[in-house]
Amino acid sequence: MRVCVIGTGYVGLVTGACLAHIGHDVICVDNNEEKVKIMKAGQSPIFEPGLSEIMQSAIQSDRIQFTTDIAAGVAHGEILFIAVGTPPLPTGESDTRYVEAVARSIGANLNGGYKVIVNKSTVPIGSGDWVRMIVLDGIAERQKTLVTAGGGADRLPVMDAEFDVVSNPEFLREGSAVYDTFNPDRIVLGGNSDRAIAMMKELYTPIVERQFAQDKSLPPVPVLVTDLSSAEMIKYAANAFLATKISFINEVANICDRVGADVTQVAKGIGLDSRIGNKFLNAGIGWGGSCFPKDVSALVHTADDYGYEAQLLKAAISVNERQRLIALEKLQQALKILKGKTVGLLGLTFKPDTDDLRDAPALNLIEQLNRLGAKVKAYDPIISQTGMRHGLTGVLVETDAERLADGCDALVLVTEWQQFSSLDYGKMAKLMSNPVIIDGRNFLNREQLIEAGFQYIGIGR
Ligand SMILES: NC(=O)c1ccc[n+]([C@@H]2O[C@H](COP(=O)([O-])OP(=O)(O)OC[C@H]3O[C@@H](n4cnc5c(N)ncnc54)[C@H](O)[C@@H]3O)[C@@H](O)[C@H]2O)c1
Repeated sequence: MRVCVIGTGYVGLVTGACLAHIGHDVICVDNNEEKVKIMKAGQSPIFEPGLSEIMQSAIQSDRIQFTTDIAAGVAHGEILFIAVGTPPLPTGESDTRYVEAVARSIGANLNGGYKVIVNKSTVPIGSGDWVRMIVLDGIAERQKTLVTAGGGADRLPVMDAEFDVVSNPEFLREGSAVYDTFNPDRIVLGGNSDRAIAMMKELYTPIVERQFAQDKSLPPVPVLVTDLSSAEMIKYAANAFLATKISFINEVANICDRVGADVTQVAKGIGLDSRIGNKFLNAGIGWGGSCFPKDVSALVHTADDYGYEAQLLKAAISVNERQRLIALEKLQQALKILKGKTVGLLGLTFKPDTDDLRDAPALNLIEQLNRLGAKVKAYDPIISQTGMRHGLTGVLVETDAERLADGCDALVLVTEWQQFSSLDYGKMAKLMSNPVIIDGRNFLNREQLIEAGFQYIGIGR
């Protein structure tokens, strides 16, 4: 099928490359010329395991193109994905201006022939109908321009434009986005047009049938077809649930710290209950990233708009805000005065296997440590390689873990990168002025760290 993906960030590029990989003919559109140049050269502008490889294979089989020209993308696609960012506004609601700009451009460039316009971006509930309205506005504006320019209304093909809007929320996780796309837990399709839903089902058939799955013997991927608003709500509810689950275990961890229990044992014990499950029960320094914080806030805001106070979600947010400073509290307990001390952060990104720093807990920590007069250094397997292009301030980014340890009064493990489990901690302890480690993700082997000479401090243990 002919597909156009507009917005080639973590979601759009992965979606475009994976759809090309399974046999579709894809054009990816982005208005960032620099990004498009990089992608045209066959490279990925983001770090995502496996992405470069599938981009390369799609380019070689001529199934993917990259452009800044939205008109070309709209003309090409029978299915048009909107995958631009929906960052948070200071009020907590979602900034939908990029979605609006794209919907308007789609309308202005529709060229006849039926199209399915897909909201892949996480958008506030009700956005399906709103996108439809903006696309119609775009059509009307173009019509007006053409009439003003002297074209007869009878000669305007744009009026033939026929389209439907579908909500197809994305559940991929950064760090395993390619895997998640080929091995999804479910596909959600919201809409009220049988024709559009049938086209979306056709698009995803190879994935539903597990043709590209790691385990091809699994039953087909469940496809949930629902209305637009429910599909939009599913995305918010899923993220709100996961964020709340983490805030819950963090709250339990804080109580464990006080009563002398070990939250890792508690998590194991409750996780064995199949009604609870063992995922998302890792206590730590809180959730961050480009999705949880903004999506939970946006849901609170939506509830508020409809006269409902989302008390549980507000509590999940406030537990998280406090949790993000837990490492600071523990550093103060261990080192007392932080002024003049050097703290080394192991990891900067909000989770491992990504280069994404959006709303990463490390950023709060750097800011607060600087405020208290501490010097901050960091080592992150990806950020240390990609240098300072991320605009980090108040932190010296080191090139390896031993340079990081050198002269530090304490280390804080911020991101659970797999390679951090096998560093030479014995050597690192010797390089430090004071071998204290706060394991902000309860990720390291406590006994090994103690043996290596560290004072080990976990979260809730
Ligand atoms: N990142 C995730 O893990 C994830 C997971 C699920 C859902 N989502 C949702 O998907 C959406 C996209 O997220 P992301 O992380 O990929 O965002 P991103 O910021 O990484 O990418 C957005 C891209 O859109 C481009 N863009 C903006 N305006 C444009 C325009 N007018 N025309 C063409 N391109 C334009 C930007 O240049 C950028 O490349 C968001 O709504 C997000 O909430 C993200």
